[in-house]
Amino acid sequence: MDDFAIRLTMGGTRVDVRGPADITKEATEAIVNAANSSLLGGGGVDGAIHRAGGPSILKECERIVAKIGRLPAGKAVLTTGGRLAAKYVIHTVGPIYRDGRRGEADTLASCYRSSLQLAEDHGIASIAFPAISTGAYGYPMLEAARIAWLTIAEALAAATLVEHVRFVLFDSAGVEAYTAAVEELQRAGRIAASKIEKGVA
Ligand code: APR
Repeated sequence: MDDFAIRLTMGGTRVDVRGPADITKEATEAIVNAANSSLLGGGGVDGAIHRAGGPSILKECERIVAKIGRLPAGKAVLTTGGRLAAKYVIHTVGPIYRDGRRGEADTLASCYRSSLQLAEDHGIASIAFPAISTGAYGYPMLEAARIAWLTIAEALAAATLVEHVRFVLFDSAGVEAYTAAVEELQRAGRIAASKIEKGVA
């Protein structure tokens, strides 16, 4: 059942807001992990993905870290999805929010852009994002939602293979913020959608 709070159709791509939900249960081809630069796991969504996906994900992360050292904030790497329904996990490192004046917005935008680019490079047609940096990394949810929507809308203009993007929020505050953010951006003419559908309440 394709339930969503709100869905925008932009070009050939559907972008949904879904939740409260657990991203480890998503059956999109890829799910995005809000990791840290060590790539060796952590709490929050990082912990949930490694727990649900199993050790094969960590093994691939260790191989990547052995090659590149640490994953800088704003970058993204791809591993197997292990035991998850998703085939792949795209690990990205969000900014730690301090005062909003240290490039946090650009780094957060880079997480969404790099993750979508990786999906395109691997011919991945559907991808689910958590609200990167809005937990332990302290990014204010509404501002993070605006950045997520604007960056994905811009990146989709150049993307050809991705057909379905999903923002999966863990709680209703996140669902409300992502829904309010896109309605505000759409009213301000900063996001163009050919169709907007409100989901079942
Ligand atoms: N499904 C979807 N979203 C989730 C889940 C889940 N299972 N678990 C948590 N979240 C949500 C949180 O509610 C928050 O809105 O993901 C968002 C990101 O929170 P964190 O997981 O804390 O990630 P982040 O804020 O980016 O901090 C990253 O935390 O877990 C560590 O190793 C990670 O050091 C890194 C840091």
